[in-house]
Amino acid sequence: MHEGRGSSTEPACGRGDVPGHVAVIMDGNGRWAESKGLPRTEGHRQGEATLADVVRAADDLGIAWFTAYGFSTENWTRPKLEVDFILGLHKNIFRRRLEMHRNNVRIRCIGRPVSGTSRLPKRILREMDESIELTKSNTGLNFTLAFDYGSREELVYATRRLLDLHRRGRAEIVEHTFAQCLYEPAMPPVDLLVRTSGEQRLSNFLLWQSVGAPFYVTPTYWPDFDRAELEAAVEWWRTGRHGHLPGEREPEGRT
Ligand code: FPP
Repeated sequence: MHEGRGSSTEPACGRGDVPGHVAVIMDGNGRWAESKGLPRTEGHRQGEATLADVVRAADDLGIAWFTAYGFSTENWTRPKLEVDFILGLHKNIFRRRLEMHRNNVRIRCIGRPVSGTSRLPKRILREMDESIELTKSNTGLNFTLAFDYGSREELVYATRRLLDLHRRGRAEIVEHTFAQCLYEPAMPPVDLLVRTSGEQRLSNFLLWQSVGAPFYVTPTYWPDFDRAELEAAVEWWRTGRHGHLPGEREPEGRT
């Protein structure tokens, strides 16, 4: 299904002059805080506010799907105080649901909560469910939070579901049916994958969905990422300059 796309700059959905699906690995909260002599938690706090701003910017740009890596299955290994703080911030982002609802944004989640095996506190799952329910008929930006998410776990989850359907004679085992068994079957392939803070790793994020996505890495720490940074990433995608990092010189002979 993904390999069938004509080129990496052809969006899976949306208007065509912007990527239909942008996915972001928000990294560098801790380093941002440390660079300012602040506790790491301040980086996460600012990171949550940044996410809310960037969702607004994605909406304004006409991006159809925006997915953010909010909490990974690996993040549980962090100190308990930091984990609790980050989970509290997720409650904050869900509490912004009324504003998102007014803007016709549809909130979705992918991760263990979908499979019913999450260790997340019930009060946060409740905020999440209410956000999904409130916005389920909205037709604007699809904002998906990857929450207690790991791509390998998603692939195992999809495999189990598809095998179950197959055993009952209800599905063939092919790419299309596999994709229907992922956490969010409606999610289109990622057109542009962004990672902040200079790291060039996928970190177990959207491995199936990002298979053909150009990978834009910016040295900016997530809390400093903003509308202009998102626009720069979209411009990079639009002009097809996928062979070098932002800020590097144009290769000879390319426009
Ligand atoms: C990376 O910073 C980010 C995370 C651990 C994920 C949590 C993201 C946020 C708190 C941003 C806001 C999002 C939501 C949904 C509340 P890091 O701690 O790995 O940074 P470092 O690599 O500099 O240590």
